[in-house]
Amino acid sequence: MIIAVDGPTASGKGTIAKALAAHFHLPHLDTGLLYRAVGRQCLLSGGNPDDPVDALTACTFAPELLSDPELRSEATGGLASRVSIHPTVRQALFERQRNFATQPGGAVLDGRDIGTVIAPEAAAKLFVVASVEARAQRRFLEMQAHGRDVSLEDIAADLAARDERDRSRKDAPLRAAEHAVVIDTSTLRREEAIAAAIAAVDALTQSA
Ligand code: DC
Repeated sequence: MIIAVDGPTASGKGTIAKALAAHFHLPHLDTGLLYRAVGRQCLLSGGNPDDPVDALTACTFAPELLSDPELRSEATGGLASRVSIHPTVRQALFERQRNFATQPGGAVLDGRDIGTVIAPEAAAKLFVVASVEARAQRRFLEMQAHGRDVSLEDIAADLAARDERDRSRKDAPLRAAEHAVVIDTSTLRREEAIAAAIAAVDALTQSA
């Protein structure tokens, strides 16, 4: 069973994907981390994330980079969004994601194009959304907890800019797959969002 969880940044898709993986005893891949590693590698090697050749070169990042805490930062998220525009970068990361999705027994993947490109045959496709305000507020609290001094307005502006870039790119833009179940987490608590996701997957896989 493949479960695809797509949605914009800070929508709660990562939390939901992790919880689904634990609930259904499936391995989980956060595909955003791959794009983040490419963005970070590009920066570390002095490349320009907007240049397709520099971005493609960064796809050969060392596996250790995936555990670099800096990958979680907003700055790296922005770089990831920029390198992810290039079709050659998406192509370079495709097989790794596809192999993970099609491993025997199934898997949960979260990202932007899992239900549309990486695993269109997924048994369950969820599209997790939330208002910019709710997402900015979550990021704000998260960053405050990590002792980072940021303004809510700056976070909201960054989120909106990243959404726009992810939605408007030509190759594999962020959009809900056909038949995806939309879960709006704006007013849901963590446990409620997880329960809604489990119920949706149960309904989708039992009716299949
Ligand atoms: O989910 P995230 O915030 O970690 O993703 C960071 C960026 O990576 C996101 O803005 C766009 C890109 N991305 C993508 O293009 N396709 C994916 N499947 C996952 C992430």
